[in-house]
Amino acid sequence: MSFRKKGFLDSFGKWNFAFLFRVSQFFSWKWGRKFMYEALREKSIYEEGYRNPILKTSLLGKEFPSPLGIAAGFDIKFKYNDELIQYGFGFEEFGTFTFYEKYTARKIRFLSSQKAVLVDEPFFKNGGIKFAQKELINRRHLPHIAGVSIASNQNPDEENKAEINIIYEKIEKELIDCVQCVAPYCDYIVLNLSHPQLPISSLVVNLGILRQIIVRLKDVIDKVAPILKTKLLLKIPLDVSAEQVSLISEMMIETGIDGIIIGGYSMGNKENHKGLRHYGYSYLCGKPIKNETLRIVGNFYKVLQGRIPIISSGGVFTGDDAFEMIQAGANLVQIHTAILYKGPSIGRKICKRLADLLHKNNFGSVSEAVGSKFSQQ
Ligand SMILES: Cc1cc2nc3c(=O)[nH]c(=O)nc-3n(C[C@H](O)[C@H](O)[C@H](O)COP(=O)(O)O)c2cc1C
Repeated sequence: MSFRKKGFLDSFGKWNFAFLFRVSQFFSWKWGRKFMYEALREKSIYEEGYRNPILKTSLLGKEFPSPLGIAAGFDIKFKYNDELIQYGFGFEEFGTFTFYEKYTARKIRFLSSQKAVLVDEPFFKNGGIKFAQKELINRRHLPHIAGVSIASNQNPDEENKAEINIIYEKIEKELIDCVQCVAPYCDYIVLNLSHPQLPISSLVVNLGILRQIIVRLKDVIDKVAPILKTKLLLKIPLDVSAEQVSLISEMMIETGIDGIIIGGYSMGNKENHKGLRHYGYSYLCGKPIKNETLRIVGNFYKVLQGRIPIISSGGVFTGDDAFEMIQAGANLVQIHTAILYKGPSIGRKICKRLADLLHKNNFGSVSEAVGSKFSQQ
């Protein structure tokens, strides 16, 4: 079905769009999403994108027009970045991609009363890194700051319970192949360790092996993207202890990793979300994980003290939430569930409010506000 009949969407104002989006979402999440995406292409129903000089942020060797970004998992087919980026977003992260394509089931349940979604996904669903490479080459002329999230779908269950060390070797090889494919065509690569079940997530604990993988990946980047100097970031889940925060920070400084993304999948903190049913592989995203994300961002900021940029990725729905994340130590802020609930124009609203809050609190830029919660105490 296509909603793209000429003039069909033009006849609706933005409020009607929001209403239709929610109604179609109520009947089926897939239809809601399809409706939103198709409508996005009809740019004429939207107001102009939002840009404000106070939101400009220099980071990772780039000029971000805004610190608000679209988190991984939103656009795994490279379909909508041209449209989304208009709504105040400063960057987008594609993926997560694995070396081999994987068409696995992904169930998404909307928990409307909590402004959250439960995602059940045993593996990373994606078209493979070669697909990502092709799309990135096609989009090279676009000025958007683009990140690519990579991981591995290696699983001992599939390999007749093979030795974990053999699995780690395979993971490393796959990651190297992924980096070789995309490093020359994107601004940053994220090594995603935040899947709740796959062995790649155990690298958060196996820091020796992780250190070795990071060093090798950085070598590969130096070889395949010597001029572009593509950055390498780490995405970690929220389930990390205070001790792990120190150890991970130490390891990051030692290896010279360029940044850390905090958030994403969270399954360990079931205690904090007692009202919610958890399934085998499911993870929770949206409003309920905001406080946990704030806490972990703050913990990392206190240890890192600005030496490594932090990107928060959890629970932001408003400009006030984004401002809180920045004050807790985040240099950039990503969102995902908020777009599913409010539509893409949420980006514009968050940016406007964030700019107001920066002015009101006498900050001249986003970077002045980073970690200010701790300096005020
Ligand atoms: C449907 C869905 C798919 C996701 N897929 C990925 C993914 O492939 N890789 C990843 O790193 N994060 C993925 N995430 C996590 C998001 O990037 C983000 O970290 C998380 O949703 C928390 O942010 P939010 O509260 O703003 O949604 C996904 C989230 C959702 C809702």
